[in-house]
Amino acid sequence: MTRIQELPKVELHVHIEGTLEPELVLELARDAGIDLPYRDAESLRGRYVFSNLQSFLDIYYENMAVLRRRHDFGRLAYEYARRAHAGGVVHAEVFFDPQAHRIRGVPVTDVVSGLTDGFDRARSEFGFTAELIACFLRDRPVAEAIATLDELTACEAPILGVGLDSAEVGYPASLFAEVFDRAGALGLRRVAHAGEEGGPESIRMAMDTLAVERVDHGIRSVDDPALVAELAADSVPLTVCPLSNVRLQAVTDLASHPLPDLLAAGAHVTINSDDPAYFGGYADDNFAAVAETFDLDDATLARLAHNSVSASFLSAERKEQVHARIDHWLEAAAD
Ligand code: HPA
Ligand code: ZN
Repeated sequence: MTRIQELPKVELHVHIEGTLEPELVLELARDAGIDLPYRDAESLRGRYVFSNLQSFLDIYYENMAVLRRRHDFGRLAYEYARRAHAGGVVHAEVFFDPQAHRIRGVPVTDVVSGLTDGFDRARSEFGFTAELIACFLRDRPVAEAIATLDELTACEAPILGVGLDSAEVGYPASLFAEVFDRAGALGLRRVAHAGEEGGPESIRMAMDTLAVERVDHGIRSVDDPALVAELAADSVPLTVCPLSNVRLQAVTDLASHPLPDLLAAGAHVTINSDDPAYFGGYADDNFAAVAETFDLDDATLARLAHNSVSASFLSAERKEQVHARIDHWLEAAAD
């Protein structure tokens, strides 16, 4: 285990469907008798060359065809938990895309109960905890988002909150103000992707119209120093995903990532994996990549892990416990 893997951390930006590794795609396809045009996992992985967000989303949605039964979602959740746990993640607040399954005829109850099965098993086997955040797809009709929220409510799905993902440019957050209002009235937490491909105005719109408590990605806030100052002053967490930004060409390369500028400006940055099966790394790999590229010291790595705990929706008591474990890691590192 590397030292970065030993650093306790919370993951706040991971799409469970984006943890579907090529090996599992092939295995589930075989089980279901689905014919795929790939010989093996490596040839599927070879297709994972992306020029922007949409080029990734096309393959991401296509691969979901193998996720059909409750059991498939259970496998997916358990495998993610196992890998994340090995990288030091103790708790995750995990996105899923109910609409992407619903429109394929997969009942939302099967999706939610399958994910819950997988995470329950992870909790009892190795103490990993997870909560679910249902994301609305911003490039689908608003009425469909509302119907999906109604369905989740009707089946008493154990979700912590709602989010907003998929194609950002051309689909303003304000379209989803009503469904986010309804979610808020139901006591659900609210987060949204903004400032991944969209500019600072997209981040402001998510904050102003959806009352979000965290901004997912948010990296384009660097283009508006007043906005970064506001995010820092208000302690609005940014769930940054460095390897995702490189693979989707939101940045030219990791060395040009705005992470150091965001940190220097006092932004509440957290480090996450987004879609690890597609972008070449889990949470620990993202920590290791930024540590190496920016030569981050242990205190900065501990600060990033600390931020992830503070920005989570964990209880005050659990936050204190994980913070203490991070402090202990830092003290042991100094010895
Ligand atoms: N951005 C937007 N939507 C997504 C992503 C992402 O990186 N991953 C899965 N859905
Ligand atoms: Zn994302």
